[in-house]
Amino acid sequence: MAHDNTRYLKTKIKNRKAVIGIIGLGYVGLPLALAFAKKGFNVIGIEIDKDRVKNIKKGVSYITDISNGALRDALRKRTFQATSDSKLIRKLDAVIICVPTPLGKDREPDISYIRQAVTKVKDNIRKGQIVVLESTTYPGTTREILLPILESGGLKEGKDFYLIFSPERVDPGNESYRTENTPKIIGGISRRSTEIAKLLYDQIISEVVPVSSASAAEMVKLLENTFRIVNIALVNEIALLCEKFGMDIWEIIDAAKTKPYGYMPFYPGPGVGGHCIPVDPLYLSWKAKEHGFETKFIDLASSINESMPQNVVERLEKLLADRKKTLDRSNILLLGISYKKDVKDLRESPSIGVITILQKRRAKLSYYDPYFPFLKLNGIDMKPIKLDKRELEGFDCALVLTDHSGIDYRFLASNLKLIFDTRNIFGRLGIKSRNIVKL
Ligand SMILES: NC(=O)c1ccc[n+]([C@@H]2O[C@H](COP(=O)([O-])OP(=O)(O)OC[C@H]3O[C@@H](n4cnc5c(N)ncnc54)[C@H](O)[C@@H]3O)[C@@H](O)[C@H]2O)c1
Repeated sequence: MAHDNTRYLKTKIKNRKAVIGIIGLGYVGLPLALAFAKKGFNVIGIEIDKDRVKNIKKGVSYITDISNGALRDALRKRTFQATSDSKLIRKLDAVIICVPTPLGKDREPDISYIRQAVTKVKDNIRKGQIVVLESTTYPGTTREILLPILESGGLKEGKDFYLIFSPERVDPGNESYRTENTPKIIGGISRRSTEIAKLLYDQIISEVVPVSSASAAEMVKLLENTFRIVNIALVNEIALLCEKFGMDIWEIIDAAKTKPYGYMPFYPGPGVGGHCIPVDPLYLSWKAKEHGFETKFIDLASSINESMPQNVVERLEKLLADRKKTLDRSNILLLGISYKKDVKDLRESPSIGVITILQKRRAKLSYYDPYFPFLKLNGIDMKPIKLDKRELEGFDCALVLTDHSGIDYRFLASNLKLIFDTRNIFGRLGIKSRNIVKL
């Protein structure tokens, strides 16, 4: 009987007749929903934020990587719809959960969004459904948390329904690697689940990589992001050392990366931000503690990266002091606020740390970021400016925190007295001037 169910489901997937549901239409869920819709699947997005649902219905995208055109195309073809009604879960053949996994107040994993979403799935589950968790989480979540909730109504995994973990690797703002051409890891609770998930993702992604278990798939994602946090911390530390040595870290990296093997460039900056890199490794260190294991690399990397905003402010203070200025008597322009270039995302942005310190030091702050026309931080309204000659002349220093594209950096170099560039955007564009200082 189970075998027949599986065969029927596989045929539906191959014929693109399977109905796909995405729970959580954010940076991960919305692009995934449209990737399935583009291949002709009928996709239902279930989103608790009513404003987001309203925007989608109007064809207005709130995710930088998704154009209104792409969204409207799917709506017009009726391959995609958004709703807040979780009862529609019953209609789905595959339910893919893409809800947030932030940190709690003691920096511990907060998997409450996963619990809420999976409880909604349990309340509406029927035989023959595929359930995939894509939210990044600690190893063991799918087996220890999702499986018992979903089986509590009497259905059996691998027979009545299929449970899989598949980490999301989307890199917002990356134009070369999108959902379709980024290899996808999958790990099912049962072998049959892995097999079905492979078939499902094979429909939209060029390479699907099965691993031995859901926990292994969870661990793959955390290895990837731990690798990044550690390497960014390493290069941040070397950048601080280069400053002491009077060396240019950017020159050192450019030369080191000519080595064709055994080296991969990472770049320093004011810290790390976003929903993933500063957060995910802490899920791993939390779980490690349950096994009496201390993840020293993660703890050290987090602490180095978290110290970067303070280091940046200290450098800025020194630069101003060389010009007989103090922070509290300086007009500072902050360029770029988002956590990385070309995205409208402030989550965990190191700019917040830098701004908080500068506010405490009573510096007079203005900012420019095309993605944030208004900004209030720590209860203080930030002053946005236009990049015109008269405005720029009034600043004692401009601090580049994020290197958005589409800004006339040459114009800035010719009209600002002093620039402290934590991203080396001026160097990369070949703009040289004595008023530019690099991290
Ligand atoms: N943003 C990234 O670059 C990225 C990359 C890889 C992995 N991830 C992981 O993917 C997951 C989702 O991240 P995101 O950036 O898309 O988050 P997001 O906040 O942009 O989107 C999540 C959406 O889920 C909705 N939601 C929350 N609970 C819900 C529920 N019970 N039912 C329906 N909708 C619900 C929220 O309203 C929100 O719109 C996280 O675990 C994250 O770590 C994110």
